Amino acid sequence: MIMTRIHFLVATTTLVFALSLAYASDPSPLQDFCVAIDDPKAGVFVNGKFCKDPKLATANDFFYSGLNILGNTSNPVGSYVTLVNVAQLAGFNTLGISLARIDFAPYGLNPPHTHPCATEILIVMEGTLYLDFVTSNTDNKLFTKVLYPRDVFVFPEGLIDFQFNGGKSNAVVFAGLSSQNPGVITIANAVFGSKPPISVVVLTRAFQVDKKVIDYLQAQFWWDNN
Ligand SMILES: *[C@@H]1O[C@H](CO)[C@@H](O)[C@H](O)[C@H]1NC(C)=O
Repeated sequence: MIMTRIHFLVATTTLVFALSLAYASDPSPLQDFCVAIDDPKAGVFVNGKFCKDPKLATANDFFYSGLNILGNTSNPVGSYVTLVNVAQLAGFNTLGISLARIDFAPYGLNPPHTHPCATEILIVMEGTLYLDFVTSNTDNKLFTKVLYPRDVFVFPEGLIDFQFNGGKSNAVVFAGLSSQNPGVITIANAVFGSKPPISVVVLTRAFQVDKKVIDYLQAQFWWDNN
């Protein structure tokens, strides 16, 4: 009886540990900071990317300038994402945070996408935005909201979301993301624009449409606004 309980306890503890690993976002930093460095020989610790020797870090390792620049929205989706993640700001390494500016032309769309590694909080600076996210297959429920300047919205980690500028003027948002490298999967690009293409047989079955529809979709150029 006691052995059974011990086994149960061990099994439960292992499961909880495994689940916490499976759902973990960026690791908590084990030191004040860890400015990313490309040359492992010049690095001192590893907790994400290689870290620069903290004694050699400067204020510029934690600094980025450029989010004042309007993104170029002259493209088929009419939006542009300017990312500031660990690739642009090495001091983000291990801190579990990053930032983006998204510009929208009138009727511009940041197409349905997901950030596999991050929750996103967004604030509208300019314009009116219609935004949505959809829950997972538990019920595929659509959450939708219209946002005005200084309104804030949060997109839970990994869920498919989009933002559409319903107004006749430009829109601008800033977004904070809970990963140094949130990743992005734009649904149409990944499904219809993969290289090489996903089999038409698979996609006609998956989307329950005629082969012609899939041929048409696969023949499009799927613009990446990142
Ligand atoms: C904006 O992007 C378009 C399409 O890629 C390009 O033709 C145009 O030169 C760009 N404009 C600026 C100001 O960079």
